[in-house]
Amino acid sequence: MQRTLVIIKPDGVQKNLIGEVIGRLEKRGLRIAALKKIKISKEQAKGFYIVHKDKPFYDSLTDFMSEGPIVVMVVEGKDAILEVRDIMGATNPAEAKEGTIRRDFAENIERNIVHGSDKPESAGFEISYFFSQIEIL
Ligand code: CMP
Repeated sequence: MQRTLVIIKPDGVQKNLIGEVIGRLEKRGLRIAALKKIKISKEQAKGFYIVHKDKPFYDSLTDFMSEGPIVVMVVEGKDAILEVRDIMGATNPAEAKEGTIRRDFAENIERNIVHGSDKPESAGFEISYFFSQIEIL
C-alpha cells in the first residue's frame, strides 16, 4: 500500500468538481484515508511548492493556490502515486490523455484542477504538510 497527497485546486472547487474527482479516484479502487477543505495563505502555498521556488511560475502558482478554498486528501492504494497521476493526466491539459481529469476539465497548465505527489519522498513531505498522523485513517 502506498499513500499520496491529492489536492483539488481552487479552480476545481470553483467548478464544483469535488465529487467528480473523488469519484474517479474511488472508481479506480483508491481509498480516501483523510480529507479536508481549507483555504491556504500565499505563504503556506509557497511553503508547499518550495521545490518550485526558482521557477518562473512560482509567484503566479502560489497566488492561484491561495485564491480560494482547496480540498486536500490522503489517497491510499497499490501504486497510489502512479495511479493518481494516470487519473489526473499530464500537467499541461493540452498534452493530457483523453478521459483524464485535466483533459476533461483543466483550463491551462497552471489552472489544472488537481495536484498529486510525484514520488514517495514528495508524498511524505506533502502529506505531513497538511495532516497529522491521527487524522489519517
Ligand atoms: P502541480 O502538479 O500542482 O505541480 C506544480 C504546479 O505548477 C503544476 O501542477 C501547475 O499548476 C503549475 N505549473 C507547472 N508548470 C507550469 C508552467 N510551465 N507554467 C505555469 N504553471 C505551471
